[in-house]
Amino acid sequence: MKLITKTMLAAVCMLPLSGLTTSAKEQIVVESENTALVFTVGDNGRLYQSYFGKRIANAGDYASLPLGNEAYLTHGMEDYFEPALHINRADGNPSPLLTYKSHTVTPCKGGKETVITLVDPVYADEVAMHFVSYEKENVFKTWTEIFNKEKGAIVLEKFASSLLHFTSPNNYLTQYNGDWAREANAFTQELFYGKKDVDTKLGTRANMFVSPFFQLSLGAPATEKSGEVLVGTLGWTGNFRFTFEVDNKGDLRVLSGINPYFSQYRLAKGGSFRTPEFIFTLSRKGTGEASRNLHDWARRYQVKNGMGDRMTLLNNWESTYFDFDEKKLITLIGEAKEFGVDMFLLDDGWFGNKYPRHSDTQGLGDWDETANKLPNGIGRLTEEAKKQGVKFGLWIEPEMVNPKSELYEKHKDWVITLPNREEYYFRNQLVLDLSNPKVQDYVFNVVDELKTKYPDIAFFKWDCNSPITNIYSTYEKMNQSHLYIDYVRGLYNVLDRVAAKYPDLPMMLCAGGGGRTDYEALKYFPEMWVSDDTDPIERLFIQWGYSQVFPAKVQCAHVTTWNKSASAKFRVNVAMMGKLGFDLNLHDLSASDLAYCKQAVKNYNRLKPVILDGDQYRLVSPYEGNHAATMYVGKDKRKAVVFAFDVHPRYAEKLYNVVLEGLDANATYEVREIDRADCTVGDAKTYSGDYLMTVGLPLFSCNKLFSTVVELTKK
Ligand code: DGJ
Repeated sequence: MKLITKTMLAAVCMLPLSGLTTSAKEQIVVESENTALVFTVGDNGRLYQSYFGKRIANAGDYASLPLGNEAYLTHGMEDYFEPALHINRADGNPSPLLTYKSHTVTPCKGGKETVITLVDPVYADEVAMHFVSYEKENVFKTWTEIFNKEKGAIVLEKFASSLLHFTSPNNYLTQYNGDWAREANAFTQELFYGKKDVDTKLGTRANMFVSPFFQLSLGAPATEKSGEVLVGTLGWTGNFRFTFEVDNKGDLRVLSGINPYFSQYRLAKGGSFRTPEFIFTLSRKGTGEASRNLHDWARRYQVKNGMGDRMTLLNNWESTYFDFDEKKLITLIGEAKEFGVDMFLLDDGWFGNKYPRHSDTQGLGDWDETANKLPNGIGRLTEEAKKQGVKFGLWIEPEMVNPKSELYEKHKDWVITLPNREEYYFRNQLVLDLSNPKVQDYVFNVVDELKTKYPDIAFFKWDCNSPITNIYSTYEKMNQSHLYIDYVRGLYNVLDRVAAKYPDLPMMLCAGGGGRTDYEALKYFPEMWVSDDTDPIERLFIQWGYSQVFPAKVQCAHVTTWNKSASAKFRVNVAMMGKLGFDLNLHDLSASDLAYCKQAVKNYNRLKPVILDGDQYRLVSPYEGNHAATMYVGKDKRKAVVFAFDVHPRYAEKLYNVVLEGLDANATYEVREIDRADCTVGDAKTYSGDYLMTVGLPLFSCNKLFSTVVELTKK
């Protein structure tokens, strides 16, 4: 970030310039290695976005830019389209006028933080726009803080985290949506005059229908390797909204933030409101580079233990559902050891005594072990895990309650549900009111008491299966429209307390599959469960979708018995492209499949640094035909691994080579097929990096549901 002062600009402005340029004005340049976002203060004192694009070598050239569009547009002034800010005041004036007051630039981890303060000359409101630019990764984070310095309360009606303007002749939006078990499917459309919202109003399981990210191609639809594309995502574990509006001039604005739907927020005198972080990157080399920017940034700066290791695991959910007892679990812990994974994870169904959790109809909220299932408690299981040399993880869903539970009988006032209306249940349960500090204490205590009693619990899977319905909080009283926001803040309070007391405790973020998949939650959770759909064909699409924004490291991928027509190898190879786990038992596998799985775990452990921490290249899209391929290249380019899949090829179909990427063109690589179903490895062949990235390898076949894994080692 550089501040171009009026004095510096004076020299530039003495040159004869076209009438399109601004005169010497204060400019604030927020920039990373390749990208710049330039703001200019107009003669009227307001702040304008003059530029967003490729960083220009000579910063002085930004003085030649036209003024542009107002940076943080407010409701009810001269603009005719969607505003970023709308404040209701006691005197009835709802239109803030924001003028530049000052700005600061301070170094921070990975880059710089620029804070631009805007003030209303008449009312005592202040808005601070924050921009953190990550130099190397070309990633930006932005949010605003709204300060009420007036004599009384104000009500925030609209409060975007970010407003960005674009002036490309054509704009193409790719959104990622679906439903339970078919999350994150890509859909692209061109944007024309008018408004398109991508939003959610589900509250808790907020991303069940739509993921909190998008791609915006500028000029023409971007491909993996070409085109200018903005990739944006909101770090907010609740309702979000992205608004894309093309105006009468053909200009596009993109507003990102909390969904203002039923969220008018009263700000007391002296109070402030911080919007969530909007995270974005702009690539001129297509979606692949944009994803890698975000993956690098996420691992380095955002995700809990982003640079640390991850545990492979065996989960019991799909193999037992609610039907288990101590004996069965002890067998499964032994199987975890047999598979060679790091951890056994006990899923739903271990708690409740008055209302034992034998199905999803009861028991949620009563976090004591069911006596007839686990007569010796969790302690017997952690002890067994210790004996076997595996870690022990436990499923919880602490934000929820079944009406058939002791918790509900005791604390009906803790539940989100409308008075004078029949209760409505999603998966037979209700959401606890986390805006209430007493409920926050209770939720924290679920974790704290389990950890205190069983310090050997090494991991939690934190589930959240219901959206908020019939929204009403006994605690919020007259501030009902605060609930969606206060809920999320309450959740973060709890997670902060958990992180403070158990800083090294890893947890999996889960919400009935991919119902919670955002970068704020990932500050607390090193990994997330992206879908209950583990059919490997569907997973190729689902993982492809999430990989646009999230690194493989945070995407849990489990091998199950979904789609048994796919071989164990095919299912495992798909799961190896994320954080590998198994959710089946030994009886689901033949002896040779089991031998294969054990080998795969070993291969995975060896390749983890490449898959989880390397650069990901999406080579062949499952959306484009009958095959798919993805590769991962270690940061030092010494190791790489390619996963190639034949999904439903046609008879005698013409096959094309898979052209690799990201290698050292001048190096020679030893290439070998690994992870074969019969546990053998292929013969080593050598190729130059240049050859592999130009001609490629014949990795596809006409076999249905067939997969090939190739390891490359630099010689
Ligand atoms: C939904 C999750 O996505 C599943 O993995 C499993 O944990 C169930 N909940 C348990 O009820």
